Amino acid sequence: MKVTVLGAAGGIGQPLSLILKSKLPAGSDLALYDVAKFTPGVAVDLSHIPSDVNVEGFTGDDGLEKAVTGADVVVVPAGMARKPGMDRSDLFKFNADIVKSLAEAIAKYAPKACVAIITNPVNTMVPIVKEVFVKAGCYDANKLFGVTSLDILRSETFWADKTGYSRGSLVVPVIGGHSGTTILPLFSQSIGYSEVSSADIEALTVRVQNAGTEVVEAKAGAGSATLSMAVAGAGFALKIVDGLIGKPGVVACAYVNGNTGYADFFAQPVLLGKNGVEKFMPIGKLSDYEQKNLESMLSTLRADIQQGVDFMK
Ligand code: 2OP
Repeated sequence: MKVTVLGAAGGIGQPLSLILKSKLPAGSDLALYDVAKFTPGVAVDLSHIPSDVNVEGFTGDDGLEKAVTGADVVVVPAGMARKPGMDRSDLFKFNADIVKSLAEAIAKYAPKACVAIITNPVNTMVPIVKEVFVKAGCYDANKLFGVTSLDILRSETFWADKTGYSRGSLVVPVIGGHSGTTILPLFSQSIGYSEVSSADIEALTVRVQNAGTEVVEAKAGAGSATLSMAVAGAGFALKIVDGLIGKPGVVACAYVNGNTGYADFFAQPVLLGKNGVEKFMPIGKLSDYEQKNLESMLSTLRADIQQGVDFMK
């Protein structure tokens, strides 16, 4: 199993790589790539951790090819992060070119890899990657994912704090996209739903939708969520790996070109298997409040997706 991290020396990339070095199955290869010249040093640093995962770091002209070639899973946190006052969509002009060129390298050197995009705005970056892969003739809807797992971690944490149920016992699916109102936690499908008032559920929903901004503001100019994003991104990559190695029943929510019919890309639960998505799963029953939010977010989500498609024209 080879897992490659593109953007491995950044604020998300380093802790994400640390978690992968610690938790990938024994015998895996972990390849780190970043434009930062010290990326091989990040790999040397990680290589002193006593796990049976071989880690190598690459940068420079041929570094991307070396890192990506033969990858089974490619995780992409590369790009610029938000500053206070910025929306995820403000990152589009900085990150679209970066993601496009990384996707071209993946299409060339690892066309069969599962690809997990963390770079913001996720709603728009994932459609760009799809267009690159379609042009290269290697697009597989079962293998392209936008990472939305931080929305799930946040929903589960906030829900546990509200209900008193232990964090480990909770599941809160999150559907839609990964920005503002397109993030839709389905608290109605969680334990303790009947014990929480509708006013509190609305407040929690808004908090989850703004949780990235909560971190951006708290970091006051030093960036956005990195550590929690690393846990979420690595956790999702490890689920992809679990599926690829044949573990049964691996389910996760991700932003995929699935079968809900709401938009070309939509976060929904998927069953992961030996070829990426084994099954796109239903979003289940929604409360009236969730249904109303779903309907009102769709025009924003579709416009985010169209921006990526237009960028590639
Ligand atoms: C967040 O939700 C960085 O998009 C990431 O905080």
